[in-house]
Amino acid sequence: MIETRARRRSEVWMKQVLDEHRQLRLMIAELREFLREPRPAPGAKGAHTWSSGLAQWLVKLHDGLFRHFRYEEESGMAEDITLRHPRRSSEIERLIGEHPQMLAEIKMLMTEALDYSEGHLLDDPALRTRLEAVLDTLDAHERAETALVQRAELQEVGVGD
Ligand SMILES: [Fe+2]
Repeated sequence: MIETRARRRSEVWMKQVLDEHRQLRLMIAELREFLREPRPAPGAKGAHTWSSGLAQWLVKLHDGLFRHFRYEEESGMAEDITLRHPRRSSEIERLIGEHPQMLAEIKMLMTEALDYSEGHLLDDPALRTRLEAVLDTLDAHERAETALVQRAELQEVGVGD
């Protein structure tokens, strides 16, 4: 039996985490849209605008993720999921363990995009591909978390395993 305090706490974070996942999906979709635009060659007209636009996107994404990850880590999400599904405990721990790495990769791309916008960095044709790979990882990460949270929600209403 899940005690009332834990039940009430989990109602709060479940709603918040699922809302934030929806917002993140929108942000990622908009960023993917931006990436579909051709990237001007370094020094060409529009190159600075493109890369500073990218840097702004990455600052926004980093900030949003930083807050989101911190909320997930401090809200009791891992503890409550473990309480409901002890067999899922290593999965949620593994997912939370991915947070610092994803933030570090986005931060690195953000710095490169800024350097590139100032014309300090040689063109890296893989910049876009690397960012797409990070977004794919992030998508898979959030999908796996959403699935865990939805399972926990089912447990909440008494129809989970
Ligand atoms: Fe998440």
